[in-house]
Amino acid sequence: MNLMLFGAPGAGKGTQAKFLIEKYNIPQISTGDILRAAITDKTDMGMEAKKFMDEGKLVPDSTIIGIIKDRLAETDCKNGFILDGFPRTLAQAEALSELMKNMNINLDKVISLNVPDELIVGRITGRRVCSKCGASFHVEFNPSKEENVCDYCASELIIRKDDNAQTVKSRLDAYHTQTAPLIDFYTKMGVFIELDGTKDVSEVTKDMINALS
Ligand code: AP5
Ligand code: MG
Ligand code: ZN
Repeated sequence: MNLMLFGAPGAGKGTQAKFLIEKYNIPQISTGDILRAAITDKTDMGMEAKKFMDEGKLVPDSTIIGIIKDRLAETDCKNGFILDGFPRTLAQAEALSELMKNMNINLDKVISLNVPDELIVGRITGRRVCSKCGASFHVEFNPSKEENVCDYCASELIIRKDDNAQTVKSRLDAYHTQTAPLIDFYTKMGVFIELDGTKDVSEVTKDMINALS
């Protein structure tokens, strides 16, 4: 199953991806997580991307498309994958179509988690992420079982550098101007499904599994 999770920053893509990994036994491909790992490793690509991420702007398409090309070629993607946070521009979507065509595979579904902007700021400012596996929690809406400890791998939870009210605004701007046009692109492709992302985490998971079965 080749899936894509779509939605604004903070819509719940990373949170829901964790359930899909377990249910379908396919990897999550989060360009945000890959970029953050490159920053931690202080690679040239990471250092370049950091400038954009700290300002809540999109990293250039050429960098992102290169990352995805390498990642999809890895053997764990053979039985499918969950794209999270990619594509985010029309150029990225077109590059993905071309890549998948060359690999002889199709996109099965694009699941959009719809959450209005008013709810996004609270979600992002209360978020805590695992420093190791990237799992997302929320101090109020989705707390970890033990404070500041990841439920999945027991590593420490941290606050992402771009999770502040200032950056959220530019991230939302980038979403509306550069990413939202993809709704039309994937609707025309006949794979776009919209879900109410404002429900509880477990309710959204149920709706998502129903939509996929
Ligand atoms: P990225 O890491 O992808 O961040 P994002 O798009 O801003 O998305 P988030 O990770 O913030 O949101 P999410 O939907 O995963 O929400 P989550 O599940 O954590 O990208 C970061 C940066 O990298 C970008 O700004 C850009 O610079 C760069 N980048 C990455 N990909 C790129 C690309 N393709 N092209 C160019 N640049 C790129 O949930 C959020 C919070 O809400 C959590 O606290 C969670 O616990 C809580 N929550 C989740 N679901 C619910 C619910 N149902 N009810 C209540 N709370 C909930
Ligand atoms: Mg995420
Ligand atoms: Zn973890």
